[in-house]
Amino acid sequence: MENLAQYADWAYLIGAVLFILTLRGLSSPATAVMGNRYGIVGMTLAVITTFFVADLNVGLIVIAMVAGAAIGLWRARTVPMTQMPETVALMHSLVGLAAVLIAIAAVLHAGNQHDAVHRFELFIGCFIGAITFTASVFAYGKLAARKWARSIKGGWVKPVQALLAVGMLGFAGHYFSTESLPSFYLMTAFALVLGVFWIAPIGGGDMPVVVSLLNSFSGWAAAGIGFTLNNFMLIIAGSLVGSSGAILSYVMCRAMNRSLMNVLFGGFGAAAGSATEGEEGEKNHRSGSPEDAAFLMEHADSVVIIPGYGMAQARAQNAVKELADFLKEEGVRVSFAIHPVAGRMPGHMNVLLAEADVAYEDVKEMDEINSDFAGTDVVLIIGANDVVNPAAKNDPSSPIYGMPILEAQRARTVLVIKRSMAVGYAGLDNEIFYMDKTMMIFGDAKKVAEDILKSLSGTGH
Ligand code: TAP
Repeated sequence: MENLAQYADWAYLIGAVLFILTLRGLSSPATAVMGNRYGIVGMTLAVITTFFVADLNVGLIVIAMVAGAAIGLWRARTVPMTQMPETVALMHSLVGLAAVLIAIAAVLHAGNQHDAVHRFELFIGCFIGAITFTASVFAYGKLAARKWARSIKGGWVKPVQALLAVGMLGFAGHYFSTESLPSFYLMTAFALVLGVFWIAPIGGGDMPVVVSLLNSFSGWAAAGIGFTLNNFMLIIAGSLVGSSGAILSYVMCRAMNRSLMNVLFGGFGAAAGSATEGEEGEKNHRSGSPEDAAFLMEHADSVVIIPGYGMAQARAQNAVKELADFLKEEGVRVSFAIHPVAGRMPGHMNVLLAEADVAYEDVKEMDEINSDFAGTDVVLIIGANDVVNPAAKNDPSSPIYGMPILEAQRARTVLVIKRSMAVGYAGLDNEIFYMDKTMMIFGDAKKVAEDILKSLSGTGH
């Protein structure tokens, strides 16, 4: 058994290296599939090794694994891409719940005396897990627009949050010094409620950062379980998830020009939720047909396509790719511009374009392409709104002021495909729709893209 444990350390080490290679692979669309494979091999190795070394009730674990795999497979096959963020939030909640249950099991384990270090790990792992659990369930409710997941606002919220945090830490301290079980349970209860009160006031526009932060929390909770179970594979894997989630949250905050503290406690998104739709009736916009759009694009030298949430919603990526291919064959320079928070999850647009086989070299990140817009003939905005809203640059009173945007307004002609003049996720009107050089093409993104293509192929150059 001792020998086996020695090999297990090696197997875990190889698993940990494979997880690091996974993260490295996932950092670029070109290597993402390979990254996923490393992850699958690493995880399989870790699970098999654990079966050999741990004192497990194999029957129970196999039943749980088969049930979990069946649910996971079913969800992976059925969940639409647009519901990925809430699905991810729900998955994080399970990691949080696991941390809480394992901490309680460890505390209750008969005859177990916990030294100070162990008690410290237990209470930290448990309250991070508890906050992650309820916060993730609530984030799921918000993203899925469930009625029970309503935002809360008002001056009373912050004091309540503070009281809950103080209560949680107070009972944690009491458990630490006395090993009192009731204090442990009360700490857990306070943490569960704090999770809800922490997420409920945060507005929709900030949810991506929150989801990635919960991802980070779920990693730290898993690392906490690793300490509790003395399993260093879990400590490494948890720390990798924890730190990569934290880095992603930081990158997203930078993409929105916000500080993390401001996102978590500033309540920007909630304020932004109030639409300014009323104004749109007073302003004039120009609309055109798919044929008009086809005419403008086939006579352009350069076209930049900006996809947004509407392209995902309409599943228009294949039609858009065909449209881009046709234009390229006609000698038009075509590229795709991606905003870091376009869509509803990190990398949303990259995934859709990769799925449609758009060449990586045609896909440009925001920093890379923003300087090109002034020299671009036509920008085609497909179901994007907030990520091209010039108010973020020009209007200091706008809630999104300071957020970097794709500067589509600088192109010579702007074409916008969307179904109506409705606002986007942040609930804000968008002046780009009312510019003289803008033409709105109303309709479902997929249908319009197909109609533009029909018109192009019907006329040729
Ligand atoms: P949005 O600002 O949400 O705008 C999407 C636009 O697509 C809407 O104005 C909508 O207008 C249009 N649309 C919806 N369905 C359509 C369809 N079937 N056909 C054509 N148009 C359709 O999207 P964005 O510009 O991609 O910005 C993303 C927003 O989501 C940001 O505010 C971001 O903070 C937030 N967010 C991002 C994430 C991540 S990580 N990416 C996660 C959560 C939230 P109509 O209704 O008029 O068609």
